[in-house]
Amino acid sequence: MTILVTGGAGFIGSHTIVALQQAGYRVVVLDNLCNSTAAVLDAVAKITSVKPDFVQGDIRNAATLATLFDAYKITAVLHFAGLKAVGESTQKPLAYYDNNVHGSAQLFGAMQQAGVKTLVFSSSATVYGDPQHLPLAEDHPRSAANPYGHTKLVVEDMLENLYHSEAGWRMARLRYFNPVGAHPSGLIGEAPQGVPNNLMPYVAQVATGRRPKVQVYGNDYNTPDGTGVRDYIHVMDLAQGHVQALKYCLQVEQELLTVNLGTGKAYSVLDMIHAFEQASGKTIPYDLVARRPGDIAACWADTALAYQKLGWRAEKGIQEMCNDAWRWETRS
Ligand code: NAD
Ligand code: WQD
Repeated sequence: MTILVTGGAGFIGSHTIVALQQAGYRVVVLDNLCNSTAAVLDAVAKITSVKPDFVQGDIRNAATLATLFDAYKITAVLHFAGLKAVGESTQKPLAYYDNNVHGSAQLFGAMQQAGVKTLVFSSSATVYGDPQHLPLAEDHPRSAANPYGHTKLVVEDMLENLYHSEAGWRMARLRYFNPVGAHPSGLIGEAPQGVPNNLMPYVAQVATGRRPKVQVYGNDYNTPDGTGVRDYIHVMDLAQGHVQALKYCLQVEQELLTVNLGTGKAYSVLDMIHAFEQASGKTIPYDLVARRPGDIAACWADTALAYQKLGWRAEKGIQEMCNDAWRWETRS
């Protein structure tokens, strides 16, 4: 079976390709390389001994999509392509709507044309907004505090509308919590351009000495140590969750499934810094500074539905997340 992976050269997509290939699927990647490089696919091939096919192109380009669906007999699509920086989305909202919403609509239209109705979509725990209660179950009310979050809400809704518009769609909307870590080989990992927005790549760059200190955004939250609490999930666990979601979709007649991919465990910013100190053997200096606007105090997943529906649960703990991220960060 051939699976189209949009955004497959990116962080989560590349790790998921490894898991897909190891589960016996053939992969074709569509990526415009706006936030990645094609060398990532060579690194994937070093891990799996199979190079995925690669089409460099944009999900917004209808002609590219039509050619691709003609050239390959695609069984299902895993849709990762999109822009993901929360801060940037407030500066460039139109770019986010264009890429994430218009791009998704183009892709789903091309799938419809080609008669491919099996889809796994990268949603985000950001759709829960500021949690009203924890852990976050899938029926928690949705809201969005920034344009990026809005694009995820819109695409979730677009899929629901599409699902009800005709029979036969098999879709999984996967809401990721905080993906971190890297493949244990150290050959692929997260490679943010410029200053990292997310905590763990920033911490990793402080550990290598590339940046002087971590700024810890807020120590006055109502959490055990006052710093923000999140559900960090190892990217290889996340990748395996996609394989399970794909298998699930392939065996149902039609369904619109929405599940959290998280660990259900909650760690603070300081917990993560200390785990990274253990992994790296380095002291990680930090300053306690003001809260980052728009941040929430705490967020973690209710994982029951993912286990019930997919038989999947995350297995790797924060030390493994940090050890693998450090191996990637210190690659030669
Ligand atoms: P990433 O930026 O590493 O990967 C996205 C890939 O998509 C990149 O390779 C980029 O070049 C490509 N891309 C972007 N726009 C494209 C377009 N128009 N056409 C073709 N390719 C395009 O991001 P990631 O962390 O791997 O995230 C993957 C998906 O998961 C995104 O949809 C993101 O919103 C979602 N997500 C990420 C996180 C996270 O914290 N990383 C959390 C929740 C959800
Ligand atoms: C984690 C914690 C920060 C950086 C974001 C998106 C979300 C999803 C995942 C895509 C928070 C603190 C951070 C730093 C810090 N992405 N922090 N110093 O904000 O939970 O989620 O990525 O869907 O939509 O919002 O992740 O890694 O930025 O922050 O103290 O330099 O680390 O305040 O408590 P976040 P993050």
